[in-house]
Amino acid sequence: MFSKKNIVLVISGGVAAYKAAIFARLLIKMDANVKVVMTSAATEFITAKTMAVLTNQPVLTDLFAEKTGESIDHITLADWADYFFVVPATANIIAKIANGVADDAASTVLAARHSPLIVVPAMNENMYLQPAIQRNLKQIKDDGDIVIDPVDGLLAEGYTGKGRLPEPNEILAYSELALYQKNGQLKGRHVVISAGGTVEAIDPVRYISNRSSGKMGYALARAAVEQGADVTLISATSQLPDPVGVRTIHIQSAQELSEQMFTALPHADVIIMAAAVSDYRMAQTAQNKIKKQDSGELNLTLVENPDILAQLGSAKTGQYLVGFAAETQNLMTYAQNKLKKKNADMLIANDVSKDQVGFGYDTNQVTILTKDKEPEMLPLQSKITLAREIMKKISIAINGQVEK
Ligand SMILES: Cc1cc2nc3c(=O)[nH]c(=O)nc-3n(C[C@H](O)[C@H](O)[C@H](O)COP(=O)(O)O)c2cc1C
Repeated sequence: MFSKKNIVLVISGGVAAYKAAIFARLLIKMDANVKVVMTSAATEFITAKTMAVLTNQPVLTDLFAEKTGESIDHITLADWADYFFVVPATANIIAKIANGVADDAASTVLAARHSPLIVVPAMNENMYLQPAIQRNLKQIKDDGDIVIDPVDGLLAEGYTGKGRLPEPNEILAYSELALYQKNGQLKGRHVVISAGGTVEAIDPVRYISNRSSGKMGYALARAAVEQGADVTLISATSQLPDPVGVRTIHIQSAQELSEQMFTALPHADVIIMAAAVSDYRMAQTAQNKIKKQDSGELNLTLVENPDILAQLGSAKTGQYLVGFAAETQNLMTYAQNKLKKKNADMLIANDVSKDQVGFGYDTNQVTILTKDKEPEMLPLQSKITLAREIMKKISIAINGQVEK
């Protein structure tokens, strides 16, 4: 999101100012162009020289400094920026932003901005909780800018409290998410997604499962959060960390998945079944570890699991239902049948016999089938890019907009 973008980083005078140097490095590593503006108080904590060397750019600290070949004008800088960050944001600069005060270089550049602003406060907890400061933060949010909440942790004063600056990589992650959510099409909607491969116990140590990594379902959860949705992810086995901003429920078997999906159904607007559900489970799970058989063979009796997609298809009351079909042959015929038979609104079909497609890969190539349109084949792409495209199509379908 920030690659090749122009970013003005405003540093104000708090103890966490040193973290702004690491934050600037992170942005530069992402291939962003970074220019820094510092308040006079900020230069008490970290030098302008440090920031100039790190960014390889002149740093603006004084509105009235004599012009040199290197100096930058506050309006030129405000026009140049695609994004503004204030890291860390003191109570003082927060008050200035909230009230349009422009009495030094930093606040004047911010007053002249016309691109998105992300404010990251850091201060003592008592300052942070001060009604006037909370009022100013609310004002900034009401004006359409982004405020990233400070985190709980050890403060400079030696005790723990809320007010600590998030780590630079967290600031980046939260900002990206907040910027996506600003234009989200699924605000106020509840999206429920299943992901990963279910696990059916054979005995206390062995199980039946499949090669699903959960990557597609987790990418869909991320894409749904980016659209501003309230997201529940019901995850079978997956090695992935719980996605930020998502309520993640961990389950094992198809039966547990079914229970969770049906608990979520009445409150859902969209249901996406991206989990790879075992078709069969043990008729009876062995209480103890099964011993090696003298006969040289072992027969397991399996019984069919519930067809969760079909059951959701018959039980749904207006929810938009999305299913996946991972096949190794006759993909389109099977997918068309599945769409109808399961009463799904959208079916995402992928041929998992192809290279770089489906289970375990970071990429996927799918064809999207809906009831009323011709199948649409999408190109091979990363799972997150694909998830964003799918989520856009779902929001268009449920919001009733025309696809451009
Ligand atoms: C040692 C020290 C640490 C400070 N840390 C913070 C801080 O973390 N957050 C904050 O809002 N103000 C902090 N202040 C107060 C600000 O530096 C002060 O309000 C200043 O006027 C802010 O100016 P600026 O917003 O122009 O940078 C600190 C002051 C001192 C002396």
